[in-house]
Amino acid sequence: MAFEKICTLEEVWEGEMAGFTTANGTEVLLIGLQDYVVRAVQQTCPHQQFSLADGILDRHVLTCRAHLWQFDVRTDRGINPSDCALAVYPTKVEGDDVYIDVAQTAPLRSHS
Ligand code: FES
Repeated sequence: MAFEKICTLEEVWEGEMAGFTTANGTEVLLIGLQDYVVRAVQQTCPHQQFSLADGILDRHVLTCRAHLWQFDVRTDRGINPSDCALAVYPTKVEGDDVYIDVAQTAPLRSHS
């Protein structure tokens, strides 16, 4: 594992999301869940690679603005369509700092 600091908890409030780029250029989307839990997923939509950072987060449902595919950010599975998913990056929080590891995970793609 090669964790790197990507941001602080103050940059990802509960119920909000923000895009970041790692040292190796990987674009990740961080989502603030309850109790200071932060999930890191691929920032590019598995459909046609539009940025999910431009999407809409409504509670646990992330909607891509391009063609309205929806994902459950608690499970990272597709809602509509249901046969897709987001890649999830290992994440840890130490103090106020958020670390992620993108070394072993590649963004997923789906049918178009
Ligand atoms: S690129 Fe996201 S739904 Fe098409």
